[in-house]
Amino acid sequence: MSESLEKAVWGKLREVRFPGMSRDIVSFGFVDRVVVADSGRVEIGLEIATQRAELAEDVSRAVKEAIGGLDEVQEVDVQLRIQRPVAAAQAAVSRDPSLLPEVANVIAVASGKGGVGKSTVAVNLAVSLAKAGHRVGILDADIYGPSLPMMFGIQERPQVDGERILPFERYGVKLMSLGFIVDTDTAMIWRGPMVMKAIEQLLGDVEWGALDYMIVDLPPGTGDAQLTISQRVPLSGAVMVTTPQDIALIDARKGLSMFKKVNVPIIGIIENMSGFVCSHCGETTDIFKSGGGEKTAEVLGCTFLGRVPLDPAIMRGGDSGVPVVEAEPDGAHAESFRRLADAVVAAAAANQPPKLSIF
Ligand SMILES: Nc1ncnc2c1ncn2[C@@H]1O[C@H](COP(=O)(O)OP(=O)(O)OP(=O)(O)O)[C@@H](O)[C@H]1O
Ligand SMILES: [Mg+2]
Repeated sequence: MSESLEKAVWGKLREVRFPGMSRDIVSFGFVDRVVVADSGRVEIGLEIATQRAELAEDVSRAVKEAIGGLDEVQEVDVQLRIQRPVAAAQAAVSRDPSLLPEVANVIAVASGKGGVGKSTVAVNLAVSLAKAGHRVGILDADIYGPSLPMMFGIQERPQVDGERILPFERYGVKLMSLGFIVDTDTAMIWRGPMVMKAIEQLLGDVEWGALDYMIVDLPPGTGDAQLTISQRVPLSGAVMVTTPQDIALIDARKGLSMFKKVNVPIIGIIENMSGFVCSHCGETTDIFKSGGGEKTAEVLGCTFLGRVPLDPAIMRGGDSGVPVVEAEPDGAHAESFRRLADAVVAAAAANQPPKLSIF
């Protein structure tokens, strides 16, 4: 029961508007937490950035009333935290827009946990965008295990022109990886300031030139390093990769709340490893269930961008250095990634970052 109730709760929350505004409190990012117990007890955490505490109190009351009106709800506990706008403004300032002045859209590919296919999606998305005629770069910011050099089949070191590091270019995509410029064995134990320095080098010292899209492959998880990177890279939005299991919802939610902390809007959710197509009989088996990504997107109030099936050809693409969209440009996977790339372009264009605060 709690799952459908949770959906209903989010639906109701999306009907609550901030006084005087046309947008709802979910799209403003004011809903921090929703916990639905089987007993029918609902706990809602609101975090509202405003100078006008009385309006935030009005929202809190409206939420209590709206949720309390749902049939299955026995008890509503609304916890309100009012954030002073100055704190939110500072978070935005630390993201320095002068770091990549010639890049129109910087898009992070992220996940709440490791191994869900973030790098695979990032690479195939980047190559698909390039094939569609966009100027594209990809930055591997995974301090724990940069995998893009392997996925692009690059073994050599980058060239340097004076003070500038020249990015590699493969399949129409400019590429630079943390793996080329730092010793990743020691990077594992880095603290915030060191992570920041390496990231600054990737952003500032590499000759990226003018780009329409830069895809950033983030390290897995939602710890300090990830937070620092999301804060420092001038991100215009984030794409979350998830797998179809119900449990993935928990990780996706963690990822979402990390981006909220640094005011980065979520472009949407991609479901990877969605159904296995047997190469012998052609039958599809939903190894990790199906529809989980879509459900996660719905529950979390995000756009669902599409799904990528589980297929050894996609894995081979990663291991061989020739991404599947390059190796089989007319295949079904290239078509899936093309559609995903279109969805990302559309969602990024339509995406209005939430306002930092309401005065
Ligand atoms: N759709 C897919 N079909 C088959 N294999 C896949 C698919 N997506 C990813 N893989 C494989 O799963 C493994 C993990 O993928 P990948 O490295 O992209 O994940 P990741 O989320 O970036 O991992 P990490 O958290 O370690 O950075 C790789 O071997 C990759 O080739
Ligand atoms: Mg990876």
